[in-house]
Amino acid sequence: MKFCIIGYPVSHSISPRLYNEYFKRAGMNHSYGMEEIPPESFDTEIRRILEEYDGFNATIPHKERVMRYVEPSEDAQRIKAVNCVFRGKGYNTDWVGVVKSLEGVEVKEPVVVVGAGGAARAVIYALLQMGVKDIWVVNRTIERAKALDFPVKIFSLDQLDEVVKKAKSLFNTTSVGMKGEKLTVSEASLKGLYLVYDVVYFETPLVSDAKRLGVEHVVKGNLMFYYQAMENLKIWGIYDERSFKEVFEEVLR
Ligand code: ATR
Repeated sequence: MKFCIIGYPVSHSISPRLYNEYFKRAGMNHSYGMEEIPPESFDTEIRRILEEYDGFNATIPHKERVMRYVEPSEDAQRIKAVNCVFRGKGYNTDWVGVVKSLEGVEVKEPVVVVGAGGAARAVIYALLQMGVKDIWVVNRTIERAKALDFPVKIFSLDQLDEVVKKAKSLFNTTSVGMKGEKLTVSEASLKGLYLVYDVVYFETPLVSDAKRLGVEHVVKGNLMFYYQAMENLKIWGIYDERSFKEVFEEVLR
Protein backbone atom coordinates (compact mmCIF):
# COMPACT_ATOMS: atom_id res chain seq x y z
CA MET A 1 0.00 0.00 0.00
CA LYS A 2 0.98 3.62 -0.45
CA PHE A 3 0.92 6.16 2.37
CA CYS A 4 2.11 9.73 2.83
CA ILE A 5 1.93 12.84 4.97
CA ILE A 6 0.41 16.03 3.61
CA GLY A 7 1.19 19.42 5.11
CA TYR A 8 2.73 22.81 4.49
CA PRO A 9 5.55 22.97 5.31
CA VAL A 10 6.22 19.29 5.79
CA SER A 11 9.92 18.84 5.04
CA HIS A 12 10.78 18.77 8.77
CA SER A 13 8.49 15.78 9.37
CA ILE A 14 10.09 12.67 10.84
CA SER A 15 7.16 10.50 9.73
CA PRO A 16 8.47 9.24 6.34
CA ARG A 17 11.73 8.05 7.88
CA LEU A 18 9.97 6.36 10.79
CA TYR A 19 7.19 4.63 8.85
CA ASN A 20 9.54 3.44 6.08
CA GLU A 21 11.96 2.05 8.66
CA TYR A 22 9.01 0.34 10.34
CA PHE A 23 7.85 -1.21 7.03
CA LYS A 24 11.37 -2.48 6.40
CA ARG A 25 11.72 -3.92 9.90
CA ALA A 26 8.30 -5.59 9.69
CA GLY A 27 9.02 -6.99 6.22
CA MET A 28 6.09 -5.06 4.75
CA ASN A 29 6.10 -3.90 1.18
CA HIS A 30 4.51 -0.49 1.78
CA SER A 31 5.82 3.04 1.26
CA TYR A 32 5.34 6.36 3.06
CA GLY A 33 6.02 9.58 1.17
CA MET A 34 5.78 13.31 1.70
CA GLU A 35 3.47 15.73 -0.12
CA GLU A 36 4.01 19.43 0.44
CA ILE A 37 0.73 21.07 -0.55
CA PRO A 38 0.39 24.86 -0.40
CA PRO A 39 -3.03 25.93 0.89
CA GLU A 40 -3.98 27.56 -2.43
CA SER A 41 -3.70 24.29 -4.35
CA PHE A 42 -5.27 22.12 -1.66
CA ASP A 43 -8.63 21.59 -3.37
CA THR A 44 -7.12 20.19 -6.54
CA GLU A 45 -4.25 18.29 -4.95
CA ILE A 46 -6.39 16.53 -2.34
CA ARG A 47 -8.32 14.74 -5.10
CA ARG A 48 -5.07 13.35 -6.50
CA ILE A 49 -3.87 12.33 -3.03
CA LEU A 50 -7.10 10.47 -2.34
CA GLU A 51 -6.72 8.57 -5.61
CA GLU A 52 -3.01 7.94 -5.43
CA TYR A 53 -2.68 6.80 -1.81
CA ASP A 54 -4.38 4.14 0.30
CA GLY A 55 -3.90 6.19 3.42
CA PHE A 56 -2.28 9.37 4.64
CA ASN A 57 -1.70 11.64 7.58
CA ALA A 58 -2.63 15.30 7.48
CA THR A 59 -0.75 17.91 9.45
CA ILE A 60 -0.68 21.71 9.74
CA PRO A 61 -2.52 23.46 8.09
CA HIS A 62 -4.65 20.78 6.40
CA LYS A 63 -6.29 18.85 9.24
CA GLU A 64 -9.51 20.86 9.08
CA ARG A 65 -9.89 21.07 5.30
CA VAL A 66 -9.42 17.33 4.75
CA MET A 67 -12.74 16.80 6.56
CA ARG A 68 -14.75 17.93 3.54
CA TYR A 69 -13.24 15.29 1.26
CA VAL A 70 -13.61 12.21 3.45
CA GLU A 71 -16.23 10.48 5.55
CA PRO A 72 -15.23 11.65 9.04
CA SER A 73 -15.56 9.47 12.14
CA GLU A 74 -17.66 10.72 15.03
CA ASP A 75 -14.52 11.71 16.98
CA ALA A 76 -13.16 13.65 14.00
CA GLN A 77 -16.48 15.47 13.64
CA ARG A 78 -16.46 16.53 17.30
CA ILE A 79 -12.82 17.65 17.09
CA LYS A 80 -13.42 19.19 13.64
CA ALA A 81 -10.11 17.80 12.40
CA VAL A 82 -8.88 14.72 10.56
CA ASN A 83 -5.25 13.68 10.84
CA CYS A 84 -5.49 10.11 9.50
CA VAL A 85 -7.24 8.86 6.36
CA PHE A 86 -7.78 5.35 5.07
CA ARG A 87 -9.60 4.73 1.79
CA GLY A 88 -11.98 7.65 1.94
CA LYS A 89 -12.62 7.54 5.68
CA GLY A 90 -11.24 10.21 8.02
CA TYR A 91 -10.13 9.72 11.62
CA ASN A 92 -8.63 11.74 14.42
CA THR A 93 -5.89 9.78 16.14
CA ASP A 94 -4.38 12.76 17.99
CA TRP A 95 -6.89 12.50 20.81
CA VAL A 96 -6.19 8.77 21.20
CA GLY A 97 -2.51 9.66 21.46
CA VAL A 98 -3.30 12.07 24.28
CA VAL A 99 -5.37 9.52 26.23
CA LYS A 100 -2.78 6.74 25.87
CA SER A 101 0.12 9.01 26.76
CA LEU A 102 -1.63 9.71 30.06
CA GLU A 103 -2.15 6.09 31.06
CA GLY A 104 -1.32 5.72 34.73
CA VAL A 105 -1.39 9.49 35.30
CA GLU A 106 -4.20 11.09 37.24
CA VAL A 107 -5.23 14.33 35.54
CA LYS A 108 -5.97 16.46 38.57
CA GLU A 109 -8.38 19.37 38.14
CA PRO A 110 -8.75 22.20 37.38
CA VAL A 111 -6.91 21.75 34.08
CA VAL A 112 -5.55 24.66 32.05
CA VAL A 113 -5.30 24.19 28.28
CA VAL A 114 -3.29 26.85 26.43
CA GLY A 115 -4.43 27.25 22.81
CA ALA A 116 -7.67 26.86 20.91
CA GLY A 117 -6.61 25.36 17.56
CA GLY A 118 -6.75 21.81 16.23
CA ALA A 119 -4.32 20.40 18.79
CA ALA A 120 -6.27 22.05 21.61
CA ARG A 121 -9.52 20.54 20.38
CA ALA A 122 -7.95 17.05 20.33
CA VAL A 123 -6.60 17.58 23.86
CA ILE A 124 -9.91 18.92 25.21
CA TYR A 125 -11.85 16.08 23.57
CA ALA A 126 -9.43 13.54 25.10
CA LEU A 127 -9.79 15.13 28.54
CA LEU A 128 -13.60 15.06 28.30
CA GLN A 129 -13.49 11.40 27.23
CA MET A 130 -11.34 10.70 30.29
CA GLY A 131 -14.00 12.24 32.50
CA VAL A 132 -12.19 15.52 33.21
CA LYS A 133 -14.75 18.26 33.83
CA ASP A 134 -13.08 21.43 35.02
CA ILE A 135 -11.23 22.67 31.92
CA TRP A 136 -10.00 26.26 31.56
CA VAL A 137 -8.91 27.35 28.11
CA VAL A 138 -6.44 30.22 27.76
CA ASN A 139 -5.90 31.66 24.29
CA ARG A 140 -4.22 34.66 22.70
CA THR A 141 -7.29 35.28 20.51
CA ILE A 142 -10.21 35.16 22.88
CA GLU A 143 -12.84 34.93 20.08
CA ARG A 144 -11.27 31.72 18.85
CA ALA A 145 -11.55 30.18 22.31
CA LYS A 146 -15.16 31.32 22.58
CA ALA A 147 -15.92 29.54 19.32
CA LEU A 148 -14.88 26.17 20.81
CA ASP A 149 -17.85 23.87 20.94
CA PHE A 150 -16.89 22.29 24.29
CA PRO A 151 -17.97 22.84 27.92
CA VAL A 152 -14.94 24.87 29.04
CA LYS A 153 -14.21 28.19 30.75
CA ILE A 154 -12.38 30.81 28.71
CA PHE A 155 -9.54 33.15 29.73
CA SER A 156 -7.23 35.51 27.90
CA LEU A 157 -3.47 35.01 27.65
CA ASP A 158 -2.73 37.82 30.10
CA GLN A 159 -4.61 35.82 32.76
CA LEU A 160 -2.42 32.74 32.22
CA ASP A 161 -0.30 33.05 35.34
CA GLU A 162 -3.23 33.67 37.68
CA VAL A 163 -5.23 30.71 36.33
CA VAL A 164 -2.23 28.36 36.43
CA LYS A 165 -1.75 29.36 40.05
CA LYS A 166 -5.19 27.93 40.84
CA ALA A 167 -4.83 24.83 38.62
CA LYS A 168 -3.39 21.33 39.10
CA SER A 169 -2.59 20.43 35.47
CA LEU A 170 -1.32 22.43 32.50
CA PHE A 171 -1.42 21.47 28.81
CA ASN A 172 0.38 23.55 26.18
CA THR A 173 -1.14 22.92 22.75
CA THR A 174 0.48 25.91 21.00
CA SER A 175 3.77 26.10 19.17
CA VAL A 176 5.16 28.36 21.90
CA GLY A 177 8.42 26.76 23.01
CA MET A 178 9.39 25.31 19.63
CA LYS A 179 11.99 28.02 19.23
CA GLY A 180 12.80 28.21 22.90
CA GLU A 181 10.12 30.79 23.78
CA LYS A 182 8.51 30.71 27.20
CA LEU A 183 4.89 30.85 28.22
CA THR A 184 4.21 33.63 30.71
CA VAL A 185 3.93 31.37 33.74
CA SER A 186 5.89 32.15 36.90
CA GLU A 187 8.01 29.52 38.62
CA ALA A 188 5.81 29.80 41.70
CA SER A 189 2.71 28.89 39.68
CA LEU A 190 4.49 26.06 37.83
CA LYS A 191 5.73 24.61 41.09
CA GLY A 192 2.18 24.13 42.35
CA LEU A 193 1.26 21.85 39.42
CA TYR A 194 0.95 18.08 39.50
CA LEU A 195 1.04 17.57 35.71
CA VAL A 196 2.61 19.51 32.84
CA TYR A 197 1.95 18.31 29.29
CA ASP A 198 3.37 19.82 26.11
CA VAL A 199 2.29 18.71 22.62
CA VAL A 200 5.58 19.96 21.14
CA TYR A 201 7.58 16.79 20.67
CA PHE A 202 10.96 17.94 21.81
CA GLU A 203 11.92 19.50 25.10
CA THR A 204 10.52 23.04 25.47
CA PRO A 205 11.48 25.51 28.22
CA LEU A 206 8.11 24.71 29.82
CA VAL A 207 9.01 21.03 30.06
CA SER A 208 12.54 21.59 31.33
CA ASP A 209 11.35 24.18 33.87
CA ALA A 210 8.62 21.83 35.10
CA LYS A 211 11.15 19.01 35.55
CA ARG A 212 13.59 21.28 37.33
CA LEU A 213 10.89 22.54 39.68
CA GLY A 214 9.87 19.02 40.62
CA VAL A 215 6.45 18.77 38.92
CA GLU A 216 5.43 15.14 39.51
CA HIS A 217 4.32 14.27 35.96
CA VAL A 218 5.89 15.93 32.92
CA VAL A 219 4.81 14.60 29.52
CA LYS A 220 6.28 15.65 26.17
CA GLY A 221 4.57 15.51 22.79
CA ASN A 222 6.79 12.68 21.61
CA LEU A 223 4.70 10.29 23.67
CA MET A 224 1.49 11.59 22.08
CA PHE A 225 3.08 11.18 18.65
CA TYR A 226 4.13 7.63 19.52
CA TYR A 227 0.60 6.51 20.43
CA GLN A 228 -0.94 8.49 17.58
CA ALA A 229 1.33 6.62 15.14
CA MET A 230 0.37 3.29 16.73
CA GLU A 231 -3.29 4.13 16.21
CA ASN A 232 -2.71 5.10 12.56
CA LEU A 233 -1.11 1.73 11.85
CA LYS A 234 -4.03 -0.04 13.54
CA ILE A 235 -6.50 1.87 11.35
CA TRP A 236 -4.48 0.98 8.26
CA GLY A 237 -4.53 -2.67 9.41
CA ILE A 238 -0.73 -3.02 9.46
CA TYR A 239 0.25 -2.78 13.13
CA ASP A 240 3.03 -5.09 14.24
CA GLU A 241 3.84 -4.56 17.91
CA ARG A 242 7.43 -5.77 17.92
CA SER A 243 8.57 -3.78 14.88
CA PHE A 244 6.69 -0.73 16.10
CA LYS A 245 8.42 -0.76 19.46
CA GLU A 246 11.82 -1.37 17.88
CA VAL A 247 11.55 1.55 15.48
CA PHE A 248 9.35 4.14 17.18
CA GLU A 249 10.55 3.69 20.74
CA GLU A 250 14.16 4.21 19.79
CA VAL A 251 13.41 7.61 18.30
CA LEU A 252 10.56 8.87 20.41
CA ARG A 253 10.86 7.64 23.96
P1 ATR B 1 -2.78 23.42 15.72
O1 ATR B 1 -3.58 22.62 14.71
O2 ATR B 1 -1.39 22.91 15.90
O3 ATR B 1 -3.49 23.59 17.00
P2 ATR B 1 -3.57 26.07 14.96
O4 ATR B 1 -4.96 25.60 14.70
O5 ATR B 1 -2.94 27.05 14.03
O6 ATR B 1 -2.56 24.87 15.05
O7 ATR B 1 -3.57 26.68 16.46
C1 ATR B 1 -2.44 27.22 17.03
C2 ATR B 1 -2.74 27.68 18.47
O8 ATR B 1 -1.55 28.17 19.05
C3 ATR B 1 -3.75 28.81 18.56
O9 ATR B 1 -4.46 28.68 19.76
C4 ATR B 1 -2.85 30.05 18.58
O10 ATR B 1 -3.43 31.19 19.18
P3 ATR B 1 -4.41 32.15 18.32
O11 ATR B 1 -5.75 31.47 18.31
O12 ATR B 1 -4.40 33.43 19.06
O13 ATR B 1 -3.79 32.26 16.96
C5 ATR B 1 -1.73 29.54 19.44
N1 ATR B 1 -0.46 30.25 19.24
C6 ATR B 1 0.39 30.14 18.19
N2 ATR B 1 1.47 30.93 18.35
C7 ATR B 1 1.29 31.58 19.54
C8 ATR B 1 2.05 32.52 20.28
N3 ATR B 1 3.22 32.97 19.83
N4 ATR B 1 1.57 32.94 21.49
C9 ATR B 1 0.39 32.48 21.95
N5 ATR B 1 -0.38 31.57 21.30
C10 ATR B 1 0.06 31.13 20.11
